[in-house]
Amino acid sequence: MTSRPHGGVLINRQHFNENASDLKHGIMIDRVALSDLELIANGTYSPLTGFLDEENYYSVVEKMRLVNGLAWTIPITLPVTERTADSVSVGDKVKLIYEGDVYGTLEVTGKFRPDKRIEAEKVYLTTDRAHPGVRRLTERGDVYLSGPIELLRRSARPAEYVNDFLDPAETRRLFEERGWRTIVGFQTRNPIHRAHEHIQKTALETVDGLFINPLVGETKKDDIPADIRMRSYHVLIDHYYVKERTALAVFPAAMRYAGPREAVFHAICRKNFGCTHFIVGRDHAGVKDYYGPYDAQKIFSNFTREELDIETMFFENSYYCTKCGSMASNKTCPHDSSFHVSLSGTKVRGMLRDGIRPPETFSRPEVVQVLIDGTKSEQEAHLAE
Ligand code: ADX
Repeated sequence: MTSRPHGGVLINRQHFNENASDLKHGIMIDRVALSDLELIANGTYSPLTGFLDEENYYSVVEKMRLVNGLAWTIPITLPVTERTADSVSVGDKVKLIYEGDVYGTLEVTGKFRPDKRIEAEKVYLTTDRAHPGVRRLTERGDVYLSGPIELLRRSARPAEYVNDFLDPAETRRLFEERGWRTIVGFQTRNPIHRAHEHIQKTALETVDGLFINPLVGETKKDDIPADIRMRSYHVLIDHYYVKERTALAVFPAAMRYAGPREAVFHAICRKNFGCTHFIVGRDHAGVKDYYGPYDAQKIFSNFTREELDIETMFFENSYYCTKCGSMASNKTCPHDSSFHVSLSGTKVRGMLRDGIRPPETFSRPEVVQVLIDGTKSEQEAHLAE
């Protein structure tokens, strides 16, 4: 028995047997819009059926809710340039084109010029352009088109993890087949280290299944590429997880780095995949020091249990304690922090680049091997460019 989709109905706007050859106009979209198009169409963003109109956009930005009152924290918009906006009229149905190929259609029901400063302040809690989400917001078009979409074809899936794509309808079926009544979803944009493994397995102790759902859409340049991460997840699951209790599929959304707001958005998307529970640990979807370590947990107090209809599982900062001889957190370990193994993402990436292995207390050796090999081939590819 999986959870009810957000808003009650799992949206499906995938029409792969249709084409848009009768439509004259087309507009170019970017990679993030393409990913949003696909995620609206396959129901990951249920109840959205298209890109937000002006009223819903401001409602989401200001109130973290759609006009109908349903919780929604990240504005899903279609930014275009001034010129593109001038080329279409409200009432048009247009093709959505990415790198020369038509992926879908948009029935243009509105166009508006957003106040990006307010969007940045409310969604990212900063207007600093050094923030990767704010930077993307400023770089994208200044006019937003709105309206319902249809997906006519899916973007190419990387051969390396082509089998790890599942639509929400498919994950729901998978959870049913496995007989799981309670499923905890886990978001990540990083390799799974011991702290991640610890909170996943602690959560799994109280539910039927663990759904590892790594984000593989656009991330910032210094995050570890998705293909290397996917390899590391498979290796980790093969060696350390109970297969009957674990499912892995990608979350092909772009990373927003919006911390608290994105944590709620991530929870809602995982509910649409069929999860009944969702893990929020330390600094979920955060970047640098823009958010406090537990802000992404605190934000959930703005919503009632009924509104979100997914159980959050909050975790304290976890680490390996050499004195305890186990994974722990400040809730369970009385020892001084000098006994705690903790390494920042930046530090670990530096170590991997230099071929230095992070300790087994930080990351499983099989995972480290995949990351070292992957980083090496990435460096070689760069040198060959
Ligand atoms: S995220 O941007 O996708 O949130 P990351 O992959 O690092 O980043 O984190 C995945 C999940 O694990 C998030 O819920 C995050 O809060 C949690 N997390 C990451 N590291 C720790 C840690 N050391 N202790 C507790 N929770 C953690």
